[in-house]
Amino acid sequence: QTGRVTVVGSLNMDLVIRAPRLPKEGETLVGRSFVNVPGGKGGNQAVAAARLGAQVAMIGRVGNDDNGRQLVAGLRRDGIDCNGVATDPTLPTGVAMIVVDDAGQNAIVIVAGSNGALTPAAMAVYASRIEQADVLVCQREVPDQTVLAAMNLARKHGRIVVLNPAPVTGPLERGWLESADFLIPNELEASALSGVPVESPESAQRAAKKLQQDGARNVIITLGKRGVVVLTEGDRAGNGGKHYLPAEVEAIDTTAAGDTFVGGFCAALAAKRPLDEAVRFGQAAAALSVTRAGAQTSIPYLHEITL
Ligand code: RIB
Ligand code: NA
Repeated sequence: QTGRVTVVGSLNMDLVIRAPRLPKEGETLVGRSFVNVPGGKGGNQAVAAARLGAQVAMIGRVGNDDNGRQLVAGLRRDGIDCNGVATDPTLPTGVAMIVVDDAGQNAIVIVAGSNGALTPAAMAVYASRIEQADVLVCQREVPDQTVLAAMNLARKHGRIVVLNPAPVTGPLERGWLESADFLIPNELEASALSGVPVESPESAQRAAKKLQQDGARNVIITLGKRGVVVLTEGDRAGNGGKHYLPAEVEAIDTTAAGDTFVGGFCAALAAKRPLDEAVRFGQAAAALSVTRAGAQTSIPYLHEITL
């Protein structure tokens, strides 16, 4: 069974340098290689959901340039409906400068470009894609008002809303946490959102609980090599949530591991899989993505996943 996933979010061209380690302030480092790879949290999650079995529609905005054309062509090769991706006449396509070190860890700076001009009005234009999705998924690389408009529209039509609150540097205003059925931050984002430093599954549980007190419903915190912590609405009263151990893998490049988890999770939810299975499915997909370089280049296909 497949379901429909609609993604409202960013499309970036990733400019990726591999280096022995991340540079320090003021330092010039000699890197090992440079490549352009299709990325952006929105695009990555769309590709993950599509490769992992969902029918996917993307709502976004690229520039009238080669990067934009390449990104859209890539999504189309994965069977993603891109009729909701508009072209900005003047702004360039979004980019991400990424340095990946020998341990596979990264540091990223993004410039929104055309992603910054994805407006709430566009949510009205492409409303049918949001209203008819089994799952809507958003991130925070497009304007806040746009994300809120998309989430509200989906809620109004009884759709499942997933929010990956990335990037984020502090608590969000009211309205954000309440609007999502599933909030999926990583450990840094969970810390920033909740004020609870997250460095273990136990502290992730505390952060998740705090986020529920602040209005979140189901909270899923991804902890990289420490696994995933899930606190559902049903856990609110009682005994705390659940910790899912990760698969042991050799990390080549963790870029888009979180996006692969989110996309896989959404594909499974849209296909009406139980929550527990959707989490393990997302984890299995993310584990594979970590063993490969790049964002969209590293996202696995359904036939590669074993649960
Ligand atoms: O989550 C990874 C993504 O973050 C990269 O592909 C980059 O484009 C940034 O958006
Ligand atoms: Na990867």
